[in-house]
Amino acid sequence: MEIKSIILAAGQGTRMKSEKPKVLHKIAGIPLVEHVIRLSSAIGKQKPVVVIGHQSIVVESELSHLDVDYAVQNEQLGTGHAVKISMDQIQENQTVLILYGDTPLIKNETIESFIEFYNESDLDLSVMTMEVPNPKGYGRIIRENDKFTKIVEEKDANDSERKLNEVNSGIYLINSSLLIKHIDDINNDNKQNEFYLTDLVEIFNQEGYNVDAYCIEDYTELLGINNRVQLAQAEKILRHRINEKLMIEGVTIIDPDNTYVESDVIIGSDTIIYPGTILKGKTVVGNKCEIGPRTMIENSIIEQGAVIKESQVMDSKVGQSTKVGPYAYIRPGSNIGNEVKIGDFVEVKNSNIGDNTKISHLTYVGDGDVGKNVNLGCGVVFVNYDGVNKNRTTIHDNSFIGCNVNLIAPVSVKANAYVAAGTTVTKEVPAESLAIGREKQRNIEGWVTRKRKK
Ligand code: UD1
Ligand code: CA
Repeated sequence: MEIKSIILAAGQGTRMKSEKPKVLHKIAGIPLVEHVIRLSSAIGKQKPVVVIGHQSIVVESELSHLDVDYAVQNEQLGTGHAVKISMDQIQENQTVLILYGDTPLIKNETIESFIEFYNESDLDLSVMTMEVPNPKGYGRIIRENDKFTKIVEEKDANDSERKLNEVNSGIYLINSSLLIKHIDDINNDNKQNEFYLTDLVEIFNQEGYNVDAYCIEDYTELLGINNRVQLAQAEKILRHRINEKLMIEGVTIIDPDNTYVESDVIIGSDTIIYPGTILKGKTVVGNKCEIGPRTMIENSIIEQGAVIKESQVMDSKVGQSTKVGPYAYIRPGSNIGNEVKIGDFVEVKNSNIGDNTKISHLTYVGDGDVGKNVNLGCGVVFVNYDGVNKNRTTIHDNSFIGCNVNLIAPVSVKANAYVAAGTTVTKEVPAESLAIGREKQRNIEGWVTRKRKK
């Protein structure tokens, strides 16, 4: 039977103490609920239904890049009510996979073996469960004479039930026809006056349907996130999974405990990542690069053989065998060529830098177009802002810009030109020429001796 997923994500998540809806909090750079949506898309061809409610507009716009259908639950009356809201998007004779938007660590393989268990045992309802060291907050799995009879929520449980360690993960497989038939049988007669989806277990048992629990070994996959402590735990688990996968694929990670790679980052083999490195967003790092220590790269392309040390790179491209850092800051919109050197305390913003150019120290390149084989001396400043507009500076191939030069944009230096140290460039420098604009030096002999005598 076809699998159709329903993902519950309408709750506020009070325990997060946040203005933001819980399911939009991120781990490894991706909202909790998006992890779950990606999982369901990997499992079945049918579009998942995401139940949203609390700040639904915010949630929907944050997820607008995903191909899902929505059901809006205006009042969060419980997980049973949330599923009921989505019933008109469910057809008979499907297998419904229910997932909670706050349980993002579950693996594809685990869901696949759950489906296999459900099909092979010819079940009508199955709940994925786990044994946890501390069951607090979870619904307890009640088994009587080896039969899985019901789920009791923490708040409704008696003392002996509270001691049980097998708990509900919030992942279910249900025969859609029977779900449609019995969803209205759930009532809110409990401590929280909520419609509990978990009541279906008892209802299905009473009807004589086939119900069983599927207990998985690694409970960390089923960690439900209700507060920031659990958010950090989940982040850590996912981080290690990502790092392990990269290492298996041929990336050297010196210290996986101190390397933070988001879910969508791609890294080529024989690249070495030093500690304290954070790679975010849609970053792609090529083969044989050296990244870090203490480096942050976001939404950027780093080509083969590049070395980025103790630096930040955002929304930019760094070409092959280029060296950046230590302490460089590459801001959005920069396109840096091959075999370039961007040294210490150099800031580059919205600029193009040609191949083999050297910018070794203490320089600001803002809104610049710098050609090939250019040398920018120490302390060069692209004066790009006149207080109203940002203007561009162009330096053509093979030019040499001396130390402590100010380039007042808009301005250009043509090919093979020299600009003497300390010059303030206010008009075009022609090709093959020297520009020098500074006071002539004057020496006053004996000045110090005379001053000392006074
Ligand atoms: C739920 C389960 C519990 C299980 C635990 C696993 C019920 C009654 N209890 O408890 O047995 O051990 O998850 O993590 O199902 N939601 C809605 N609409 C609502 C209420 C909740 O969409 O009206 C969504 C929430 O956004 C969340 C998910 O359902 O993503 C779970 O809700 P939550 O309130 O966190 O349930 P728990 O108390 O954790
Ligand atoms: Ca929860």
